[in-house]
Amino acid sequence: MSWLYGRLVRPVFFQQDPEEVHQMTMRCLGRISRSATASELVESICGAPPLPVDLFGLLFPNPVGLAAGMDKSAEAVPAWKSLGFGHTELGAVTWHGQPGNDKPRIFRSPPTEAIVNRMGFNNPGAQAVAGELAHWRNIGRWPAHPVGINLGKSKMTPLEQAPEDYATSFRALWPHADFFVVNVSSPNTPNLRQLQDKSALDAILAAMQEVNVAASRQSAAKPILVKVAPDLTFDALDEILELVQQRNLAGLVATNTTIARPVSGDPVVQRVYSETGGLSGKPVRERSTEVIRHLHKQSRGKVPIIGVGGVFSVEDAWEKIAAGASLIQLYTGFIYEGPTLPKRIVKGLVEKLRERGMTKVSEAVGTANR
Ligand code: FNR
Repeated sequence: MSWLYGRLVRPVFFQQDPEEVHQMTMRCLGRISRSATASELVESICGAPPLPVDLFGLLFPNPVGLAAGMDKSAEAVPAWKSLGFGHTELGAVTWHGQPGNDKPRIFRSPPTEAIVNRMGFNNPGAQAVAGELAHWRNIGRWPAHPVGINLGKSKMTPLEQAPEDYATSFRALWPHADFFVVNVSSPNTPNLRQLQDKSALDAILAAMQEVNVAASRQSAAKPILVKVAPDLTFDALDEILELVQQRNLAGLVATNTTIARPVSGDPVVQRVYSETGGLSGKPVRERSTEVIRHLHKQSRGKVPIIGVGGVFSVEDAWEKIAAGASLIQLYTGFIYEGPTLPKRIVKGLVEKLRERGMTKVSEAVGTANR
């Protein structure tokens, strides 16, 4: 962690309500995003060195991306590139704008470097986000890295109508992003995770690929990935893997937050863990890596995986790459470690590859499984 963040910024932030800090930070990043000069200044401090990754037809300037949930309404699209990220996953976005669950709905557990959240897909809706994305492009502030969108189901939409809900959002957002992630793994929308069931997921993917084919008459189809929960059994993951080929998926994002809670004797931790919601950060690291390893082995390395869950350091990122991730993402590590984390991880990965006589991340993917 940088000295400034660890000694000055984080202690002040952690005295305040997590969601208020989040909103204040997003407003600040939104302002930076609108100014080329401010963005360049941030990039001169936080920008990451190049470590390009070529994956599902997109060129990522480095393998460290921003995980879904941080920028749900595309408020600071240009800032994430300045902060050193090699891609951004915006959202979750749902077809209907919705307020999410009642506050408070984010809880920090500093002793275990974790977060519990039950946001419940608060977002302005797909059409509003499409407008915001068009705006960033129109003012010439589109970032020089791939931008993905995490799609969720609107709370008011019954499960049986999920395929139309996802497909309608996808249609509205299709021209505005480089790749899409179907989120059926959030624990915070009632029954959403039932959509990870093979037949339910198949119906959603079929509806989305229909939109993809229709929309791609002029340009290439957009990569579609599915984000999985760390709480799925290996059998359930294998069923999802079967859909990858059948529905022409570009890859999988592993993993979302967990509903599991590790045992803790610390009363502060116990209080946070007793909150309903998904747990992220250090406690989910190991299980997320296990899921990545399983998916990589089962697919014989043929399915691209974006690894996310508890990445706080270059060692954590390397562990996920060696287990089979071609790209990684951060959320909770960014909160605990601060804005220079992407740059530090990319620099560390460049060094690790050099030590092993490798030049590309792809040479290290899945090496721990051989
Ligand atoms: C998330 N995450 C998340 N995931 C997703 O697919 N859609 C979403 O809208 C959100 N929202 C969200 C909000 C908050 C407050 C947190 C902490 C997390 C999950 C996130 O993208 C990631 O998968 C997990 O947090 C695990 O990674 P980390 O946080 O351990 O790096």
